[in-house]
Amino acid sequence: MERVEQLRLLKGLINHLDHNTNINAGGIIKTPADTYISEERFDREWNTFFLNHPQIIGLSGDLLKPNSFVTTEDFGVPILAVRDDTGEFKAYANVCPHRGVTIESSKKGEKSKFSCPFHGWTFNNEGNLIGYPKKEQFGEIDKDCYGLKELPAIEKFGFLWVHPKREGIIDLDELLGKELQAEFDAWNFQSLVFANEDLYFTDMNWKLAIDTFGETYHFSVLHKDSLFESFYGNCQMFDSFQRNGRLILCKRTIDEMRKLPDSEWDICAGSLPVYYLFPNIIFMPTQEGAFLVKEYPAENSPHKSYSKISFYFYPHVLEQLKELEKTGIDGKQLLEDQYGGFASVIRDEDYVAAASSHKGLRSGNIDYLTFGKNEPALHHYHNTYREALGMQSLPLEEA
Ligand code: FES
Ligand SMILES: [Fe+2]
Repeated sequence: MERVEQLRLLKGLINHLDHNTNINAGGIIKTPADTYISEERFDREWNTFFLNHPQIIGLSGDLLKPNSFVTTEDFGVPILAVRDDTGEFKAYANVCPHRGVTIESSKKGEKSKFSCPFHGWTFNNEGNLIGYPKKEQFGEIDKDCYGLKELPAIEKFGFLWVHPKREGIIDLDELLGKELQAEFDAWNFQSLVFANEDLYFTDMNWKLAIDTFGETYHFSVLHKDSLFESFYGNCQMFDSFQRNGRLILCKRTIDEMRKLPDSEWDICAGSLPVYYLFPNIIFMPTQEGAFLVKEYPAENSPHKSYSKISFYFYPHVLEQLKELEKTGIDGKQLLEDQYGGFASVIRDEDYVAAASSHKGLRSGNIDYLTFGKNEPALHHYHNTYREALGMQSLPLEEA
């Protein structure tokens, strides 16, 4: 992030702390219950935001080396994404052109050839069919007609985008806008190295998982014995970029940071930036690395979802930790435990509350969820979501 913007945001947080204020959206909005529990709405979302929308499947650090791969089926289409021999990122339908079977079933790994488990047809990471067994008995075929179907794929700013439709378009100007692209360019996400991923299934709509990242109003209550020890609650900054948003959460370390000359301030020293990347990604850069949270509907249901929470570290941090090893301390393990601990707070506190909210919505005893003046990220997300589905914005009500 540009220095000028870092200072503007940090000074904004300090101003809120000193005046006991928070960001103000100018009113409240009410999101109807059907946003979360309607089957009809769910079908439209699945079609619009997953089957027909570019997807962030991970970070560059998921494919560290040439001839590595990852697979995913999180948004309906089996995907095989690779880094080829030359280092280029490519994606294919993970569907065998012989009889449709999923070719690669491992989640990630290193190899340049993929052999189908049904009859053993083999493909290289350029998508070409390079061999099939028993040619004499099977018959001669034109191998050029039996390559893997390539999908639109872009690697930029350290993110990996894939479009599940072959004719789909990934337009970063449209997805992110110029301003957010310039901001991402000033980070260094492309050097992040994958460390860990956890998978959490929950009985709730996928957007309730997203909502839980959208405010710190709940920190002093839900997280009073966990995150509230290291964060100020109800103190944040918010800006939107097209359909995306960026919250800046206030860390208590800001008290020490502000004593330094502002030339030494750093956005990750005094805050936790939270990027909402529409429609289903939360990305949180830290001093040591970043968290990537991906939310997906499960079982074709508005009532089930899962989260994939991954974390990544910068290589220079891992190098520093190696030095620590000489003193007998497993620094990498300590850092992973710390990041894993943060992820488990999300699972054990945020997602438990969000699943409870979903149960309340299904009971029919609450007609809408209310987002306060101090929760502008949720105003933006829900109005953006509605606009993307061709629905009217929610009115801002005086409060
Ligand atoms: S279905 Fe893949 S080799 Fe037959
Ligand atoms: Fe939370």
